[in-house]
Amino acid sequence: MASEFRSKVSGIGSYLPEKVLTNFDLEKLVETNNQWIVERTGIERRHMASPEEATSDLAYKATLKALDMANLKAEDLDMIIVATVSPDQIMPSTACVLQSKLGCRNIFSFDLSAACSGFVYALSVADQFIRTGVYKNVLVVGAEVLHRFVNYKDRETCILFGDGAGAWILSRTSNQDENIIFSSHLHADGNLGDLFVLPAGGSKIPFSEAVLKAESQYVKMKGREIFKNAVRTLTDCCHEALAANNVNPNQVDWLVPHQANLRILESVADHFEFPKEKVIVSLNETGNTSAASIPLAFDLAYQEGKIKRGQLILLAAFGAGLTSGSILLRF
Ligand code: ACO
Repeated sequence: MASEFRSKVSGIGSYLPEKVLTNFDLEKLVETNNQWIVERTGIERRHMASPEEATSDLAYKATLKALDMANLKAEDLDMIIVATVSPDQIMPSTACVLQSKLGCRNIFSFDLSAACSGFVYALSVADQFIRTGVYKNVLVVGAEVLHRFVNYKDRETCILFGDGAGAWILSRTSNQDENIIFSSHLHADGNLGDLFVLPAGGSKIPFSEAVLKAESQYVKMKGREIFKNAVRTLTDCCHEALAANNVNPNQVDWLVPHQANLRILESVADHFEFPKEKVIVSLNETGNTSAASIPLAFDLAYQEGKIKRGQLILLAAFGAGLTSGSILLRF
């Protein structure tokens, strides 16, 4: 039976830590240079949390802005999902820490781990709880302090990643509303899991002196293979969302993709036959912020006046796992 309820985006917010790490700063740490990084990735700088800041602190600041825009209070929230691969600690979850910081009621709160697809995965979960009439207001946050999991001796990864947070509040509306989430499409291919890993710190390789010696507490990546898979899966996800809703690319106002590499975004636009000027790009300022990347890019574009209420927007993500997904919505 079709549901009478749908989700609308009632509030958005984001937070970027103050400290900035430029390509020129990285030149002093590893054998790289600004020109190579800009030409191969499009990234110019990334933000870094201060030593006092954990992922929940970034999430908290982004959430306050989203609550303000939605004209809601923390006690109005019914559920919290934090998408992250850099939680404050393994347990308790960052969502529970955030719930406490916000002063919410004793609401259902959990972390979702799907790497850079985490925010799209989490939005889809939140949407299900709203459509079924279970909850009215759900907070979805993508937040990362990735720089603590990056080896600043590994030039292939340390140039890419940054810290940040983006928060959305999904609220219940009627199925007659035009500004809603239309559909979500999620995938995972665990066979390609070894392309991007954070090996240590779990039950398989617990922390030990050997871990520190092998530097397995840091992310390891096969960049070239990820690049190829990213272009293919992002393009497929874009087609899937539009086909499911009988929408043409020219009806979409903005594509907000996961911000990994400008060349990936340009290739996706070519394969998807989508105008490059309608692809939101913020990676020059933020680098790759994993689960925070889509809500951060969205909010920065909203603040710039590019994204406006009532526009048709396609979100597309891929990440470690390999995970991927897309969401079509009218903002
Ligand atoms: N500075 C200078 N030179 C470098 C650097 C650097 N930072 N990094 C690599 N190089 C060198 C390589 O050693 C290589 O040298 P060689 O030809 O002498 O062997 C040369 O540059 C070319 O290396 P490639 O790996 O072919 O460079 P490529 O153009 O593929 O760019 C990059 C590398 C930027 C990592 C790219 O592959 C990429 O962006 N891949 C996707 C990565 C990604 O998105 N990861 C996260 C996805 S999942 C998620 O977001 C959670």
